[in-house]
Amino acid sequence: MTHATYPPAAETGAFGIDIGGSGIKGAPVDLVVGEFSADRVRIPTPQPATPDAVAATVARLVDSFDLSHDLPIGVTFPAVIQHGIARSAANVDDSWIGTDVSRVIAEATGRRVLAVNDADAAGYAETLYGAARGHDGVVLVVTLGTGIGSCLVVDGTLVPNTELGHLEVDGHDAESRAADSAREREDLDWEQWAERLQRYFRVVEDLLWPDLIVVGGGVSKKHDHFLPLLDLRTPIVPATLRNAAGIVGAAALAARGTHLD
Ligand code: BGC
Repeated sequence: MTHATYPPAAETGAFGIDIGGSGIKGAPVDLVVGEFSADRVRIPTPQPATPDAVAATVARLVDSFDLSHDLPIGVTFPAVIQHGIARSAANVDDSWIGTDVSRVIAEATGRRVLAVNDADAAGYAETLYGAARGHDGVVLVVTLGTGIGSCLVVDGTLVPNTELGHLEVDGHDAESRAADSAREREDLDWEQWAERLQRYFRVVEDLLWPDLIVVGGGVSKKHDHFLPLLDLRTPIVPATLRNAAGIVGAAALAARGTHLD
């Protein structure tokens, strides 16, 4: 368990990397304000996205910055990450399962690395610097993208790897119908997609009874099109760090230096 304290660590800077299916993005992060301290760099994810190929790309990205050698690096990964090890591969190459992501990236970059689930990183950033800052109680951050990621924060403590995107809803893996990728794939209009989100979030709130739901992922910048269509008992708000959240959260966690368990 990780408690979200502010400021997050004695260190005031760290480097964050977001490993995604199409791009690997990284930036140095100012942890005092929770913002990039230099422009983000993006390199396309190598295909096939095997551990060795991705680690080499991450090393190239890190080397494109002039960083002090002891700057901690936080890496987000779209899978269950237990003690640094990938335990699932919903939208990434199966060869990652069982891979020690922290170690593979540490070896490739020669640096101190901490790997974390992408939604946990984003949710941690929203808790420290964004829409959930200062909220006690049960906060659920849900990212809508290729998949659905979830991050549960209880009184500032992050409960890692909740994987609520894979809840079974009406006989389906929830993310296969309600992720933003389903909206695009099936060419759903906002009302049609909102109906699926309504069903999803209703199931989630009936099971968890959160005090606040924060919606992240790239589509959250278009929240005006779908959040007002939802009828939930739980207050639901857009994330404020948007696409920066993963990088910022991973950097903040790396600065703490411990895994989320
Ligand atoms: C994965 C999660 C991930 C989410 C968002 C899901 O398919 O199982 O680990 O957080 O996608 O990328």
